[in-house]
Amino acid sequence: MKSSILTGLFVRPQKSALAGLSFALALINGTVWADAADGRQVIELTAAQRAHVLGEMRVLLSGTQTLLAALAADDMAAVARQASALGMHMGHKAENHLHDVLPPAFMQLGMAVHQDFDRIAADAESRKDTKHSLQQLSTTLSTCAVCHEAYQIQLIQPQQKQ
Ligand code: HEC
Repeated sequence: MKSSILTGLFVRPQKSALAGLSFALALINGTVWADAADGRQVIELTAAQRAHVLGEMRVLLSGTQTLLAALAADDMAAVARQASALGMHMGHKAENHLHDVLPPAFMQLGMAVHQDFDRIAADAESRKDTKHSLQQLSTTLSTCAVCHEAYQIQLIQPQQKQ
């Protein structure tokens, strides 16, 4: 990716300032830089770290699906169970060892989502109100979307490539 940005410096002069800025950000920050073509910030991770984060994402998606199925069945005990599986307990386990690698704003958005799921679980038990739970889930999903609009993940480039 960085090599294509460098190529862009020569091929498309009008974009060179932006590409140069992205490259400078990469040098200053190390792990987070803006991708000129995509617009989202890039988080550079190792293959193992990337697999870990994306694996957690897939758990969030499939967990959201089972949560919706439980809501459609008005099974509030299952709603509470499914939501709490996506709560802070999952967040701490998943993100603890990536704490130094992921940007603070990214961590905060992630934790906000896990906290939301704990609240959905608690309210499902105490209020047993499907519409209320759906409203909460909708708000939570908009936080998923905010993060996806802001960040992308790329593999750390091997050093020898310069
Ligand atoms: C803190 C930021 C953040 C939050 C919150 C977040 N995601 Fe993601 N998610 C990402 C990033 C970054 C990617 C990788 C995108 C890329 O590289 O193009 C991703 C990728 C994914 C993927 C693709 C996984 C794969 O195997 O490729 C799924 C599915 C997903 N997220 C679901 C969700 C769902 C559902 C939620 C909310 C319940 C959520 N995410 C919340 C940042 C986030």
